[in-house]
Amino acid sequence: MENRIENRMKETLPAKFYTDPKYFTEELEQFYFKRWICVGRTEQIGKPGSYFLAEIGGESIIVTRSLEGKIHAFFNVCRHRGTRLCDKESGSFNGRIACPYHSWTYGLDGRLVGAPHMADVVGFSMDNYSLHAVNCDTWDGHIFLDISKAAGKLQDQLGPLQEKFRAWRSEDLLIGKRIAYTVKANWKLIIQNYSECLHCPVIHPGLKKLTHYLSGDNEPLSPHYLGGSMDLNEGVVTMTATGKTDRQIFPHLSAEQRRHVYYYWVLPNLLLSFHPDYVMTHTLWPRSADVTEVICEWHFHPDEFKRADFNCEDAVDFWDAVNKEDWHVSELSQLGIQSRVYSPGPYSHRETLLHGLDSILTGGR
Ligand code: FES
Ligand code: FE
Repeated sequence: MENRIENRMKETLPAKFYTDPKYFTEELEQFYFKRWICVGRTEQIGKPGSYFLAEIGGESIIVTRSLEGKIHAFFNVCRHRGTRLCDKESGSFNGRIACPYHSWTYGLDGRLVGAPHMADVVGFSMDNYSLHAVNCDTWDGHIFLDISKAAGKLQDQLGPLQEKFRAWRSEDLLIGKRIAYTVKANWKLIIQNYSECLHCPVIHPGLKKLTHYLSGDNEPLSPHYLGGSMDLNEGVVTMTATGKTDRQIFPHLSAEQRRHVYYYWVLPNLLLSFHPDYVMTHTLWPRSADVTEVICEWHFHPDEFKRADFNCEDAVDFWDAVNKEDWHVSELSQLGIQSRVYSPGPYSHRETLLHGLDSILTGGR
């Protein structure tokens, strides 16, 4: 009898999934190089020539906009002798991407347009040395890249999520604040932490005043995303320290949507949190098995920025505090899992979603 119960009990993952560098490398291949990943917002490259770099697994990708307004992405690797073309995190190209070494130059569409001293090299053709391109697409103002060029269509990866949050008109929203965090924890621990709220009353004193941790309503596991909603407590309008806001509620939300906050993990690296008056996003950038960089952004309706008294600090301060509480406990998890005595522990019935999530994250290994 005891054994049967043992068999039914779901357990957390073995330590290697959080600590083994070899496993980490395989995982990056599987999740970050073979799927569409979210790298930023179209707003970040509003003008032709503006660019930013996306860094993942030792690769650097240039994301830019051509003179025609099209978004392009390329490996940050010169086709002459391989030099990294630009090392500034973001900026603006003056119509051309020029290599700092021997001045090969490329158009904003990646075509090689200048190669000094190559004209008399037999067999050389500029046409054969465009930058290595990466597939790009956008959804709701988010820029996605498919580094492998074999991930299929972004629409297929997003599935039903594409229409789910249409009412927020996310493609129109503008960034009010961005904070980068370095978290000394495996990226999966951050997703697991995001996907359950049993810890909320324990470590988030600010959060529990606004939503009840058991009001969560998760959707069944999907291959595209994982998420659900929580009810805002009576009298709470949004997630700020006071539960109030001076901002307008997004105009197209239904009565139901105004009374909830929605938390969704979009595989593999985007966390979306929809509030009645703002959208918060996190993108996760695993740097090693035990370190993850997290970029958190707060997005607001464009009309808010026109107000002389626009201030987003209430939303930012609230979540910055909660973020830090989550990062701290994720770091404690990482430390404990690294111990020689760690072995998988049992999940409660309220954590069955996490067990499903583990299966997705370990890809059946
Ligand atoms: Fe780029 Fe030579 S390595 S121009
Ligand atoms: Fe939390």
